[in-house]
Amino acid sequence: MLPRTKAEAARIKAVIAPTTDFTRPEKFEQKPGGAASVRARDTADAFSQSSANMSFEREMDFKLGNGLFRKTWVAAPSSTRASDGLGPLYNARGCQDCHIKDGRGHPPAPGQAAVSMFLRLSVPGGATPWVDQADAIEEFLSTSPDPVYGGQLQDFAVPGVPPEGQMRIDWQIQPVTLADGTVVNLRKPAFSIDNPAYGPPSPDLQISARVAPPMIGLGLLEAIPEADILANADPDDRDGDGVSGRANIVWSVENGRPMLGRFGLKAGAPTIRHQSAAAFAGDMGLSTPLFTDPYGECTAAQTACRAAAVGQEPDIRDGLEVDGASLDLVTFYSRNLAVPERRNPGDPQVLRGKEVFYTAQCQACHVPKFVTARLKDQPEQSFQLIWPYSDLLLHDMGEGLADNRPESRATGREWRTAPLWGLGLTKTVGGQENYLHDGRATSILEAVLWHGGEAQAARDRVVALSKTDRDALIAFLESL
Ligand code: HEC
Ligand code: HEC
Repeated sequence: MLPRTKAEAARIKAVIAPTTDFTRPEKFEQKPGGAASVRARDTADAFSQSSANMSFEREMDFKLGNGLFRKTWVAAPSSTRASDGLGPLYNARGCQDCHIKDGRGHPPAPGQAAVSMFLRLSVPGGATPWVDQADAIEEFLSTSPDPVYGGQLQDFAVPGVPPEGQMRIDWQIQPVTLADGTVVNLRKPAFSIDNPAYGPPSPDLQISARVAPPMIGLGLLEAIPEADILANADPDDRDGDGVSGRANIVWSVENGRPMLGRFGLKAGAPTIRHQSAAAFAGDMGLSTPLFTDPYGECTAAQTACRAAAVGQEPDIRDGLEVDGASLDLVTFYSRNLAVPERRNPGDPQVLRGKEVFYTAQCQACHVPKFVTARLKDQPEQSFQLIWPYSDLLLHDMGEGLADNRPESRATGREWRTAPLWGLGLTKTVGGQENYLHDGRATSILEAVLWHGGEAQAARDRVVALSKTDRDALIAFLESL
């Protein structure tokens, strides 16, 4: 990362200041991913394009990464040695099964198995990841994997190994009446484990349901200078606006030190590479240079799992199921899924909705703009004005959204502000709408009505809106 001059920093500060003019679109607003943005397609491929500013030579790596992202892994031993090693326990057989068309996943339909979402599991207490006290993470909330089920419930396993159980969701309908009399039925999920195959889970088991989030713009989020993210943190709410914002600090396996968390729904992963390697290990049971155990999530208590065949052989793939070169290609791909251009930022209703968004103080967390760092080796992400509508910080979102399962510094009530770019293309890409960390909201309005805690005041302002302004707000969000 190349340092910014004082003059440049001042210029950037002026560019990213929140707008006060809602009569016309802002300069460059049309391109939320800067020069990496692509023309929005009206098809399910809308999230599957590469950064528009990518050179022809680098397109090849994107295509190879795409191949690995779409690949269906199989159990070992198999005749297709290059694709074996799945499991023994797994949630899905490929990245694309969860990040559907590079977009988000969804809760299972009634009677269907859960694929594109899973339950993270833990029990309170346990060891800390650092050895040296100098590396300690302040306000760390320690948890450990469940001694039998591990850190995640795998609903699937290779032949001969019992799957851990099935994720169960019980929905409860909660009607909300808006100021104009409109009634919106929210559905609140309760998660549990059906048919736990390895005995009853620990009585103090912590469960956090996670739906796979969309994959666009991730490299740009990674390229935001850390200082610019930390500048928005206000843990003690000094400015008194009711919105605090805390950075998650997490353990980097790659670097052996604490780092700012940016990825995952509680910002539990520091880099795209780390998150991708964790997905290979936890979601598919595949070893990489970062997580080298080919048994993935099998715990010592799961003996059939520990005895099953794995796909790791000394003579191929650096002795791993997924070698470093493959992990790097998937990481490159994940960095370069492009953000589509805005469709109609100048539409009068959209502009009014944008004003409502600012007046309701949504932008206190959904921070509109950043400028990425200058990066020598990543021309696609380097020095771009981007519009993710997220501060990448953690916020207390109230009891309704709480999972009561901490992650590094994130409490059981905190979540990372969801980036809103691409929001309006959700249905085009995935065929359905499911928002929030567990996919409980089936419309954008429902997602907003679930906001509590630090976002309670913003949510209440939306409840009080006239129908005209509410429709305008939704039109703005759909234009992102
Ligand atoms: C079983 C479903 C599933 C599979 C398979 C899966 N993911 Fe994910 N992915 C998720 C979920 C759920 C999250 C959110 C994780 C969290 O909150 O900790 C996520 C998050 C991510 C993120 C961070 C996105 C963000 O907005 O912060 C990246 C990057 C990612 N996955 C890459 C991959 C790659 C690469 C693969 C294949 C190697 C993969 N995923 C396979 C479910 C899946
Ligand atoms: C205090 C911070 C905060 C404020 C204020 C806030 N949000 Fe959010 N928003 C979040 C967080 C955190 C999430 C993710 C919550 C989750 O997944 O459970 C989120 C999620 C969303 C989502 C769902 C996105 C997705 O991809 O699933 C939408 C839509 C949204 N917010 C819109 C709004 C609007 C509109 C406003 C203003 C009325 C607003 N938010 C105000 C923090 C905030």
